[in-house]
Amino acid sequence: MRQMTRQKFLCSVFSVQCSVFSVHLSPMPPPPKLTDIDKSHVWHPFTSMSEWCAPEHDPLMLVRGAGCWLWDQQGNKYLDGNSSIWTNIHGHNHPRINAAIKAQLDRVAHTSFLGFTHEPAIQLAAELVALFPANTLNKVFYSDNGSTAVESAVRMSLQFWKQNGRPERDVIVAFDAAYHGDTLGAASLSGIPLFQGSANEFGYAVKRVANLDALASLINETGDGPKNGTALAKTSLKRIAAVIIEPLIQGAAGMKLWPQGMLKQLQAWCREHDVFLILDEVMTGFGRTGKMFACQHENVTPDFLCLAKGITGGYLPLAATMTTQRVFDGFLGEGCTFYYGHSYTANQLGCAAALASLSVFREERTLELLPAKEDKLRELLHDLSLHPRVKEVRHCGMIAGIELASDEIIGAKVCLAARKHGLLTRPILNTIVLMPPLCISDDELAVMVQALRRAID
Ligand SMILES: Cc1ncc(COP(=O)(O)O)c(C=O)c1O
Repeated sequence: MRQMTRQKFLCSVFSVQCSVFSVHLSPMPPPPKLTDIDKSHVWHPFTSMSEWCAPEHDPLMLVRGAGCWLWDQQGNKYLDGNSSIWTNIHGHNHPRINAAIKAQLDRVAHTSFLGFTHEPAIQLAAELVALFPANTLNKVFYSDNGSTAVESAVRMSLQFWKQNGRPERDVIVAFDAAYHGDTLGAASLSGIPLFQGSANEFGYAVKRVANLDALASLINETGDGPKNGTALAKTSLKRIAAVIIEPLIQGAAGMKLWPQGMLKQLQAWCREHDVFLILDEVMTGFGRTGKMFACQHENVTPDFLCLAKGITGGYLPLAATMTTQRVFDGFLGEGCTFYYGHSYTANQLGCAAALASLSVFREERTLELLPAKEDKLRELLHDLSLHPRVKEVRHCGMIAGIELASDEIIGAKVCLAARKHGLLTRPILNTIVLMPPLCISDDELAVMVQALRRAID
């Protein structure tokens, strides 16, 4: 009996071993590639998903970064030529910013800013305010991204006039070809049809103008368009609540430069008519144009300043809308509260990263080193501008737009070719953007421009 049982037992073990063995022997299906799982389940922004999911498309998966460089999973190295969509400032994996985030993480990652406060947000607000002349932009309203920084400014402008004796001021003026973000409110301001989507059917009234002359001519307009939801054909001056502009350079328009002195004149016009000036420095802020903020080139201080992207050094989503005591005071009355905010407003990790990024500006003398880098970039771009396939090079500080000479749209092809030469960037139609992290060295600048030249060749 005992013997039989043992036999049976051995048999069963053997059969199990056999089946295990046979499992080992039969070919296992290969694990799905991560990029295939991506194609099955992920929806990417600003991306034609039919092209993305096409069998021949092999998505680039980035796994590591250091300084201006990024690596894919095969170990290929690329220069981050657009600072990871205009965000990175001091380079990837910066030890100072990493350490600040880790230290904050060991305390707490996130706490609500509704009804509570915390040290990183308080310190960051004080440091941001200290970057501007005393008693100018001395209030900081946090949110999470560039679009919400803009929406906050727009909503504050409209609500301010409504509750401070000028309710007829319900129109925001934006410029042709402007880009201020993708949420419905921000997209309503866009002068680029592709980015407007259906946003104009919602929300508030926007008047679009081409330039300062067109703005000035609104004085003579008497038309009264609908109260909301439309790009107005006519707008009388009395309805204008605020003018919004990307100072010095319109990014998504293809890096188009405003004439020198335009911003100063715009400020004068806004002051003359007591209209708010909103500066969208989501792209230009934090050193990109050669000064900490683009408005400092023309000594302009707005009523609202919108900051995001580079505020955390390009590490975490955080935004700030800075404004004045006057605006703040307009929200103190009974029933005048600004009912707006998001769950991750003033995220503690983001604020810690932003404080560390401001320290790096001081410790690495980031702004002081920029003029020499700008000179080097200008010299390299000048050579590139002589290329027969280059129509125009537009350049402001550490931002460049290289417009290709072609009747077809070939920007995306050129960027794909640049990837083979170790450069990552994205086009705006036929304009290739070069906007590297500010920590880039002269040698790396040369590598970046050379890679683009080869791609254009
Ligand atoms: C000038 C400007 N404003 C706003 C935005 C929107 O920022 P986000 O993408 O963080 O919402 C952008 C983004 O590119 C921008 O360039």
